[in-house]
Amino acid sequence: MTIFRKKSIEELLPNKSGHTQLKQSLGAFDLMLLGVGAIVGTGIFILPGTVAALHSGPAIVFSFVIAAVVCALAALCYSEFASSVPVAGSAYTYGYVIFGEFIAWILGWALLLEYGLAVASVATGWSSYLNAFLRGFHLEIPAAISGPFNPAEGTYINLPAIFIILLIAFLLTKGIRESTRVNTIMVILKVSVILLFIVVGAFYVKPANWQPLMPFGFSGVLNGAALVFFAYLGFDAVSSAAEEVKNPKRNMPIGIIGSLLICTALYMLVSIILTGMVPYTQLNVTDPVAYALQVINQDWAAGIISLGAVVGMITVILVMTYGGTRLVYALGRDGLLPKVLAEVDSKHKTPVKNTWIYASIVAVIAGLVPLGKLAELVNMGTLIAFMMVSLGILFLRRNKNIAEGSFKAPFYPVLPIVSFLMCGFLITRLASLTWIVCGIWFVIGVIIYFSYGKKHSSLEK
Ligand code: ALA
Repeated sequence: MTIFRKKSIEELLPNKSGHTQLKQSLGAFDLMLLGVGAIVGTGIFILPGTVAALHSGPAIVFSFVIAAVVCALAALCYSEFASSVPVAGSAYTYGYVIFGEFIAWILGWALLLEYGLAVASVATGWSSYLNAFLRGFHLEIPAAISGPFNPAEGTYINLPAIFIILLIAFLLTKGIRESTRVNTIMVILKVSVILLFIVVGAFYVKPANWQPLMPFGFSGVLNGAALVFFAYLGFDAVSSAAEEVKNPKRNMPIGIIGSLLICTALYMLVSIILTGMVPYTQLNVTDPVAYALQVINQDWAAGIISLGAVVGMITVILVMTYGGTRLVYALGRDGLLPKVLAEVDSKHKTPVKNTWIYASIVAVIAGLVPLGKLAELVNMGTLIAFMMVSLGILFLRRNKNIAEGSFKAPFYPVLPIVSFLMCGFLITRLASLTWIVCGIWFVIGVIIYFSYGKKHSSLEK
């Protein structure tokens, strides 16, 4: 059937399709830096507070552990794909090879939700911390123009969030990508401010604040896990570097699992300290980490951390906007979306039109929708992609046309199956509104495929 037509691996492999073979220069440590740079953003500065207040209570730390396990399993599956099908495009490309065009399109459509809304959510988080930072100088952006559309609360639009997305889009059209060097500096900065929070905060912990540990029961902890899952997103950036890794069999799993471990340790420590400093009931604010430091009158530390957060979140926005525009580019190139989205500007060699269209849509969403709603949708899109990638491993291993990659997920077939099931389980913990919005999104996706993509696909010829 046409809708299950597949791309052959030969068409995709870089040397065959005329791309340059990239230099294999990255080691395990470089991968970990790349991972931490792409992962640590809004999640750690916001979710330990808001999710503790509304879902998990002080047991938020367990939510982070559960989410980390789910991510680690999916990450191993991603790594196997990345080493067997070492081409850009992530789950979308893997889907095209393994499941055929229709599922690939659905995966691409799910990833659009992930990347697009992740950028929007990080931008709204960025806006909160920008405000927290400015407050340190007794400056304040008026609430009406620095919050989501919610007239009852007196907020109408989040202008700083819109501004940062358009600024990043501008940089991307000029061909400015994050260099490894900038990434390293950012990672050191982000990790330092987080450690500063942990060290300062540790002196103000009151163990009484950890009681009751699970005010919303274990069910609340599981719901929390489905939400804080967001904080781990970005590690697929590591798997997409597969072509450039030295000895990928060894370095890829160390890089991916290593960056997840570092992030898990940081997230656990921040959650423990934060819920120890301030009663969890008070943490439903837009900038909980800075807020907790203000409660204990350490405004200087709140200022430094807000600055670190504002700078550190920019790399996440950059990496995710880059990923999103390149996904749109791939969909355009393959004919599933209009070809104009795959046009490359002759001067800067970047997809300029695509970047502006994409960034404008994302910016409007960031300007109007609150962070919590966005993050849930991001998680849903991502979990669906993770499920398909996990399941895909079972098909990948049986497919004799694809040469074995240098890295294989351990405990086959148990691990991919468990990964598939755990991702599915987390999806069931998301709010029903998220399900509905997501359902509508996929219905639109299916309509676009049958009314446009199927006819215009480059495989049609
Ligand atoms: N993991 C990324 C963040 O927390 C999306 O900002």
